[in-house]
Amino acid sequence: MQTANRLKKIPPYLFMTLRNKINEAKARGIDVISLAIGDPVDPTPQPVIDALCKAAQDPGNHRYPTDEEWGMQSFRDAVARWYARRYDVQLDPTKEIVALIGSKEGCHHFALGVINPGDTVLVTDPGYPGYKPSIWFVGAEPHAVPMKDENDFLPKFEDIPSDVAKKATAFYLNYPNNPTGAVATRPFLDELVEFARSNDIVICYDNPYSEVVFGVERLSFLNADGAKEVGVELNSLSKPFNMTGWRIGMACGNADIVNAMATSKANTDSGIFNAIQYAGIAALDECDNFSDEMLAIYTRRRESVLATLRELGWTYEPPKGAFYLWVPVPKGYTSAEFCAFLFEKCAVVIAPGAAYGENGEGYVRFSLTVGEDRLEEALRRMRENLPKLNFD
Ligand SMILES: Cc1ncc(COP(=O)(O)O)c(C=O)c1O
Repeated sequence: MQTANRLKKIPPYLFMTLRNKINEAKARGIDVISLAIGDPVDPTPQPVIDALCKAAQDPGNHRYPTDEEWGMQSFRDAVARWYARRYDVQLDPTKEIVALIGSKEGCHHFALGVINPGDTVLVTDPGYPGYKPSIWFVGAEPHAVPMKDENDFLPKFEDIPSDVAKKATAFYLNYPNNPTGAVATRPFLDELVEFARSNDIVICYDNPYSEVVFGVERLSFLNADGAKEVGVELNSLSKPFNMTGWRIGMACGNADIVNAMATSKANTDSGIFNAIQYAGIAALDECDNFSDEMLAIYTRRRESVLATLRELGWTYEPPKGAFYLWVPVPKGYTSAEFCAFLFEKCAVVIAPGAAYGENGEGYVRFSLTVGEDRLEEALRRMRENLPKLNFD
């Protein structure tokens, strides 16, 4: 059977591989604890569930979704209110917002709506593994921009070769960052807009962790002057409201890009179930306290992991965002070897940095999305079962 050549470029999806490994071990009776995946186990807030149940009872919502390609006007209005309240960003819901089936889907429609075959597209390395497939699927080529610890895991624009910057047509970035936890600053966002403007590059700023910041301000790319002239921001209800399974998010910003993404969506899917959009409105309008409480929970979990890491010999300054800890591996291990070692000694799964790009080698990622009891058990096993680790 013929399958498309484009699929040959795509490496096995990290989390499928991890999930298979976890399932195999569980089938052998091992009590595996996964700190690998950024998928909160904590429940979705009740007002969201109630709104879904109520809307699902209305047969009017059983038909094709309203305003299929853009999302319901009332959902887009709620997005605009949330952005105004949480980020001080003003959006026109009639043309600057399109509803998405999550930010991952948005990465794809950005590519379909904006990128041409043969284009060069910048991606950060390490970076979210979802970007490259979207770029390959439209016949373009990703170009890795290294992110280094010494630059706070932010790209250094002056280090991007000028011929690459001139050739590139788009740039996918994400802060608070998966996997490093790094955050953007206002001066960085201004530089990004300037870089995009001077090189004619369209920005796809993927911001699903915008609510998860520790001791620094919540930032949208659209806070930067001129951001709407050069790009869009993707956001999602997945992470702030524990709604990964619900599949709802939004792209906001430049009206032409939003329109291009809506055109791509109109010719791909038929929109998001209205009842889920009503639930999304409840999340955006009624659950600010909930996302603040989740942040307090992540803060406590982070402190627990940090205390154990320090006890085990790590001297490590935690990042300021996202619910991940991006931790250097002890001497003598690659990232995959250290993950395998931890699994063997403790039946704890973490993500190897190399899976996020060449520059991810030397690091592993711990996710803070499991409940306290399982996290404490994983940490206890690490304290009790790991030998002395070498960091010199
Ligand atoms: C950087 C980044 N972008 C997008 C996504 C996907 O989010 P969504 O559930 O909104 O599709 C994730 C999920 O882990 C992510 O880490």
